[in-house]
Amino acid sequence: MVRVRILYASEHRSTQEIAERIGTRLRTHRHLVEVLALDSDPGRKALGQADALVLGSAVHDGAWLPVAESVVRGGAVRLRQQPVWMFSVGMSAALPKPLRRWADRVEQPRIAALVEAVRPREHRRFSGVIRREHLDRRGAVLFRLLGCRYGDHRDWAAIEAWADDIAGQLKELPALGPAE
Ligand SMILES: Cc1cc2nc3c(=O)[nH]c(=O)nc-3n(C[C@H](O)[C@H](O)[C@H](O)COP(=O)(O)O)c2cc1C
Repeated sequence: MVRVRILYASEHRSTQEIAERIGTRLRTHRHLVEVLALDSDPGRKALGQADALVLGSAVHDGAWLPVAESVVRGGAVRLRQQPVWMFSVGMSAALPKPLRRWADRVEQPRIAALVEAVRPREHRRFSGVIRREHLDRRGAVLFRLLGCRYGDHRDWAAIEAWADDIAGQLKELPALGPAE
C-alpha cells in the first residue's frame, strides 16, 4: 500500500471533482489516499508527507491557478525527488474541432515551465467544465466568436484510466514500508 496525496487547485469545482475521482479510483487499488485543496500555505508542507503525489490545477489564462503555481514552484526541488504525477484542467474539448486539434498540440509555456521544474512521471491534460457564469463579458464574447461550447466536457473514462495507470505504476515503486 502506498500513501498517495492528491493536491488540487480549483475555482469552480471541476478540478476538485476530478481529483476526488482519481482518489476514489486509487483507493479501489488499495492505496491510502488523501485528497486536499492546494489553497494555502500548509499546502507547501503537505508536499512532503506522502510516498507519491498527484498535483492538479484548473488552467486560467494559460497557467495553473496562482496558489498552485507558487506552491509547486516553491517545492519543485523536493518534488523532483518524489514520484509525482501532474494534471491540468482546461477547456480544449469546448473548442471546435480544428481549434481543439491545435490547442491539444500547443504547450502553454507557463505550464510547460512548471512541468519542467517538477519533472513528474507524467503530465496529463483534461477538459473540465465551462459555463457562461464563469466568464466575464469579454470572455463570453470571445468564447462565442471562437464557436466554443459551454458544458461539462470531462471524460471520466480517460480520467479513470489514467488513475488505473498511476495505480499500476505505484505497485512498481520500491518497498516503502508500512503506512503510519
Ligand atoms: C477566467 C477563465 C480563464 C480560463 N482560461 C483558460 C485557459 O487559458 N486555457 C484553458 O484551457 N482553459 C481555460 N479556462 C477553462 C477552465 O480551465 C475550465 O473551465 C476548468 O474546468 C476550470 O476548472 P475548475 O472548475 O476546477 O475551476 C478558463 C476559465 C476561466 C473561467
